[in-house]
Amino acid sequence: MSSHLWSENASFSAGTLQLSGISVAQLAKDFGTPTFFLDELAFRSRALSWQSGIEQEFGSDAGTVFYAAKSFICTAVAQWIADLGIGIDVCTGGELAVALAGGVNPAKIEVHGNNKSLSEIERAVTAGVKCIVLDSLFEIERVAKSAKDNGVRQGIMIRLTPGVDAHTHEKISTAHEDVKFGFSIASGAAWQAIEEILQYPELNLLGVHCHIGSQIFGSSAHELATDRLLGFMAKFRDALGYQLPELNLGGGFAIAYIDAEQTVEPSDVLPAMYQAVVAGCKKYSLDIPKISIEPGRNIVGPTMFTLYEVGTVKDVTIESGLVRKYVSVDGGMSDNARTALYDAEYSAFIAQRISAAPLALSRLVGKHCETGDIIIKEISLPSDIAPGDLIATPATGAYGRSMASNYNHVPRPPVVAVKDGKARVIVRRENEADLLALDVKE
Ligand code: LLP
Repeated sequence: MSSHLWSENASFSAGTLQLSGISVAQLAKDFGTPTFFLDELAFRSRALSWQSGIEQEFGSDAGTVFYAAKSFICTAVAQWIADLGIGIDVCTGGELAVALAGGVNPAKIEVHGNNKSLSEIERAVTAGVKCIVLDSLFEIERVAKSAKDNGVRQGIMIRLTPGVDAHTHEKISTAHEDVKFGFSIASGAAWQAIEEILQYPELNLLGVHCHIGSQIFGSSAHELATDRLLGFMAKFRDALGYQLPELNLGGGFAIAYIDAEQTVEPSDVLPAMYQAVVAGCKKYSLDIPKISIEPGRNIVGPTMFTLYEVGTVKDVTIESGLVRKYVSVDGGMSDNARTALYDAEYSAFIAQRISAAPLALSRLVGKHCETGDIIIKEISLPSDIAPGDLIATPATGAYGRSMASNYNHVPRPPVVAVKDGKARVIVRRENEADLLALDVKE
């Protein structure tokens, strides 16, 4: 059982998975299944290791870690972020509302989105967020108007498309040319946006931003993007006579979902990113700008596992006489859409007992009325797996609960934070009353 897939306070003892000393059998009894269990201390230490990592590498030029809320946010987690003193990146009014409810200092909030509504812009401006990252020409005037109406000079950044292939799944790759995000540097759109922005004294252009994609291993794509963004900052300096102070390189740092993968740690990538900044600044004769990053998955992903209970097991004969064991659990694509959407790979383990049975070709599936409701397409599981077994899938913290749906009117699972031997609900389980609450009866 690979320990690198589990968070620091998870362990196996006599075949039983425990989190902070509490067995999964106990957790399942107290909180039911399916449930996301979150290792709070691991979350805090991962968030801090990125912040201290950039401070260590970039020194006085270090900016802020903006935790990408889309990966997972709830009020308690926003409170931890506020507590830790790091920043948060939100991309909708809903995420902004949670960040504010958790007491995050607006001066540490940045607002993204390729189609922010007027009310989202207004809310961000009146809340006093640090910056709004502009993503289209239309937004320039909209944000300027809101800033003017509210009598503020709003901090903004501009999201650039550096034309970099991040070598990740197409649906989570964001910085090649043919995407909806950002202003292309190569096409001239980015420069056109700059000229427009400079017409508005109520906009305070802090710098440039890019996010090249998600689940990226290594640092070469970030390094290339850094060079292109610095080149653009040099163009700005040459034309305007002063340098923009900030550079935000986005998130995207990968984690391990399966044995063969290794979670990217700050020390694996930040030194190379720093070198790329130094080299680019030298090449373009720039001062080193303030560098910020936006990891989401890398902070929260490894800190949660999902606990399911097996409901049925079915042997199905497939081509060439092989038998595939379909193991159905009590959740599925409503709590983990990533396999269906991105062909994501996960690992799964029987979590409450040791089995010496031979392994069998298996598929871990959910309870939804859909063939594509697959959590793990191909996995070897002990052939004696049976109803009542608890199954844990590690590394489900990012884009699991945050992308959960009510498909088939399945209530979304709770999130339970575990710390120092105590477990508490931070997002409660939905119930049927919640599911009916929005319906208007005729
Ligand atoms: N910053 C910006 C502007 C982003 O768009 C994103 C992610 C992040 C930061 C954080 O990226 P991370 O460090 O978490 O990779 N639902 C997909 C991922 C979509 C990511 C969208 N943007 C998935 O489950 O893989």
